[in-house]
Parts: sequence; C-alpha cells; structure tokens
Amino acid sequence: MNTDLSNIFVIFGGTGDLTYRKLIPALYNLHHENQLPEHFAVVSIGRRDKTSEQYRNELVDSVKQFSRFPFIEEAWKTLEDRIYYEQFDFSQDEGYYHLKEFLQQLDQKYQTNGNRIYYLAVAPEYFGFIAEKLKIHGLIENQRSWKRVVIEKPFGRDLQSARELNQQMIQVFTEENTYRIDHYLGKEMLQNIMVIRFANALFEPIWNHRYIDHIQISSSETVGVENRGGYYEKAGALRDMIQNHMLQLLTLTAMEPPINLKTESIRDEKVKVLRSIEEFTKETVIKNTVRGQYGPGKIKGKNVSGYREEERVSPTSTTETFAALKLHINNFRWSGVPFYIRTGKRMPSKSTEVIVQFKQLEHTLYFKEYKDYLMPNLLVIRIQPLEGVYLQFNAKQPGTKNHIVPVKMDFCQNCQVGSNSPEAYERLIYDVMKGDSTLFTRWDEVEYSWKLVDTIAEVWQNQPIVFPNYPSGTWGPKEADELLHRDRRRWWNVGEGELMKL
Ligand SMILES: NC(=O)c1ccc[n+]([C@@H]2O[C@H](COP(=O)([O-])OP(=O)(O)OC[C@H]3O[C@@H](n4cnc5c(N)ncnc54)[C@H](OP(=O)(O)O)[C@@H]3O)[C@@H](O)[C@H]2O)c1
Repeated sequence: MNTDLSNIFVIFGGTGDLTYRKLIPALYNLHHENQLPEHFAVVSIGRRDKTSEQYRNELVDSVKQFSRFPFIEEAWKTLEDRIYYEQFDFSQDEGYYHLKEFLQQLDQKYQTNGNRIYYLAVAPEYFGFIAEKLKIHGLIENQRSWKRVVIEKPFGRDLQSARELNQQMIQVFTEENTYRIDHYLGKEMLQNIMVIRFANALFEPIWNHRYIDHIQISSSETVGVENRGGYYEKAGALRDMIQNHMLQLLTLTAMEPPINLKTESIRDEKVKVLRSIEEFTKETVIKNTVRGQYGPGKIKGKNVSGYREEERVSPTSTTETFAALKLHINNFRWSGVPFYIRTGKRMPSKSTEVIVQFKQLEHTLYFKEYKDYLMPNLLVIRIQPLEGVYLQFNAKQPGTKNHIVPVKMDFCQNCQVGSNSPEAYERLIYDVMKGDSTLFTRWDEVEYSWKLVDTIAEVWQNQPIVFPNYPSGTWGPKEADELLHRDRRRWWNVGEGELMKL
C-alpha cells in the first residue's frame, strides 16, 4: 500500500449511467468526509459534445439524487472545480495525444505526481482496446508514479473470453495494478462476515459440518431488467450474479481463517474455497440447478409484464432471470454440508443475505415432546438493504404452559439513527487510491468462478426449457422449492419479513 494518494482519476465513460449514478456521487461523498487527497483531479471522457462547465452542471442533479450526504453548495464547488470533461472518441488516436498533454498540465496544476487511476466505465469489449491505446500513447509510463486500472464487471462472458481479456490487460497493467470491481465486496456487511466469523468465540468454533446443517445464500430483487435488456439478454442471472457476487459471498462465508489480514492471504483462502467446490457434471447440473424466467404478474399490487415483453428482449428469449443451485465444498470443514444459492429478479422483496442453519439437537429433554415446535437455530447475515445480524433460537413462551417458541436477537446496523453506511463505490474508490486490492477480485478467483459457471451454462444451453416458468412477484419456479424439499429443507424468505415477524 502506498502513502501518496494524490492522483488524477480518469473516467472512460464519463457520460454513462455508472458515472452519473455511482462514481461522481461516491467522489462527492468521499470529498464530504475529507477522504479525497489534497492533490486530486477528475477527467471524464465521453463522445458527447459539451464543455466542462456544462458537464459539471449536469453532475449537480446526480449528486443531489444519488449521494448519501445532502448536497452542500460550498462542498460541491470545491470538488467540481477539479472535474474536467474531455470530448473524444476513444477509438481514435488523436484523443490520446491530447489527453496525455492535458493530464501533464493538470499534474503541474494539482501536483498529482503523474499518478493515475484509469476507470473503465465502458462496455467490456473496450477494456483491452483502451488499455492498449494507453500503453501505445505513453499514458502508463511509470517514472516514479503509479498507474492503476479499474474495470467493471462483466469480466468476460465465459472462461475463454475472460482469459482473452486478461491476456490483453496483463500486456499493459500488472495484476497488482488491476482492480476488478465486484461492488458487493465494497458492501459493509460483506466486510463484516470475516469479523463476525473470526472475532467471535460464539461463532468460529461451531462454523463447520459438526454444527451446521446447511447454508443458504440468497439475493432477490423486485425489479425486472428495466432498461438493461440488451446487456441482460447476453448475461442472465448465472453470469450476472452467480459468477461474481454470489460466489464472492460464498467464499467469504466458507473460507478458512487466513494466516493474516494481508490482501494475498485473504485472497488465497477465497481461491481455495472455489477450488474445493465439487465439480458439476451434466447429471448434477440437471439434478442440482434450477433456472427460471419471470412472466407477467404483480409486484406490490401493481401489474407488471413478463421478461419477454421487456425492451430489447427477444419475445422467445431463453435467458434466465432466476438461478438456484446446490453445491458442496469438498474439504474437512464442510464435509456433507450443502450450500444453496439463489438469485432472481421480480421476486416479492429485495434482499440479500447469508443464512446459516444449525443442526437440531437430538435426544434433548424437549425433543420428544416438542419436536414439532422446535425451530432450528438460524444466524442470518443481512447484506442489503438492511444490514445486520439476526440470531434465532428457542425459548420458553411466558405463561403457565411449557410452550417453546423461536425468539430473536436482532442487530440492525443501518436501522440506528445516524447510521449512514458508506456506499460500496466510496470504499472501493478509496481503496484504489490507497493501492489496497483486498476488496477486488484476483484473476484466479475470476478463472475458477467461470469454470464452475461454464459447466452449468453449457448443460443449460443444451437442455430445452419452457419459459416463462414463474410469475412476477413469486419466489421463482416450483423446482427451486423442490431442490430443498427433497432434502427436507426449505428456503427462508427473509426479505419478506418471514423471520422478523417472530
Ligand atoms: N450502470 C450500472 O449500474 C453498472 C453496474 C455494474 C456494471 N456496469 C458496467 O459499467 C460499464 C459502464 O456501464 P454504463 O451503464 O455506465 O454504460 P453506458 O451508460 O452505456 O455508458 C457508456 C459510456 O461509454 C462511452 N463511450 C462509448 N463508446 C465510446 C467511444 N468510442 N469514445 C468515447 N466514449 C465512448 C459513452 O460516451 P458517450 O455516450 O458520450 O458516447 C458513455 O459515457 C459497463 O461495463 C457495465 O457493464 C454498469
């Protein structure tokens, strides 16, 4: 990690959705918290014709709408003065000549020492191309400065394309200077999973197959594809969610304690989890995975259309908007413990959580008489929108009878007044400036995730499916319930408030 945080933050895709909704509001929030380096400037690149003045004015609305801190004119003024718009088509060489000169001028003005963050907020097919142009035009020469690149998901469409892309990127940026964003890793509660596990005598000793029955990792959204139909048609839930966010959640939940808190030690343990996942075969894909696509239905009482009726979606699309799978991690800790993963759009509620279900005590005093009432102990790590930890256990119901009821201990991190967790992008951008890549995905993590996902995708591609197979506003196709029912288990629909009502 370096101490010289000064840099010019260069955004390719400066007029795009990600920049307006996430990057600029995150920079504003960092500025608000005095986290931006003193020597700092932003250069945003796009093709649209506008001056820096016009661009800054446009950004005001997105900061007002998307920033977690209120818009304060004076604070914004001191940031916007350092934001510049550069109009050029990045497929043309001329723009890079001018960009190089302009960045050198800004280096003088802001004393940024030649340090650069190149944030590629553009379609993935341009990542390699832009990196190569930056190299050809001398925009990544070191000369006692640092140059880093940030790339957005998706990192490839399958293992083959991810390898090709990686090959292109490593010609230009070392692994150490490549920051592959998985914005889930920037979420507060993801970072908390390690603390909860490894800083509590209450949890770590029982975090294994002797005490844990199974683990569910679930992420549901109420929205459909909205205006991202074009992208989503090529991705689907498996590539859009499972390959990255869901497998990252899995690795943090299942990994062994790292030897220390250094970036590579943590990443090494995460990779070991991915390597230990039992390989899928055609038979296990058919048996242990479920895909779905939403049809018309109701969300919060409002009629909504099916996926096939969405903009830029084929009326005969076979893209999945729901995926569920059961997998095993073949190591000593997790022997015999299934992990169930589920993600979907247009479900009844928006929520992401990890649910650890503990084994039932057998032959206890109460088991014989109360076995129908005894609920399993559950530890729920809530990732979003609510952040916190919830523990369910059994207790006696007050009264003269010996009734046993489940009760809860509920720590809600962002329910407290004044709590205002940083947005994932704030944390991640700040880490790139510091040179800390712990919360970014290393190449071998990407590689192993794609291996797993490719096997499933290939079987799915060759198996006919009748879509749509779940109405909007439901928890996915009935096969997803059966996946657990046949193991005498069930999904816990936390987002619906199922557990919280207790
Ligand atoms: N939006 C999100 O919430 C989100 C979430 C996760 C990941 N991502 C990823 O982030 C990246 C950007 O997504 P986005 O939604 O922001 O895309 P977008 O709204 O379509 O923006 C694309 C940007 O690329 C610029 N661009 C395209 N071709 C160009 C060229 N030849 N020369 C110069 N600029 C060019 C566009 O500039 P002009 O319009 O001015 O030409 C625009 O600024 C993608 O990789 C996406 O997968 C986005």
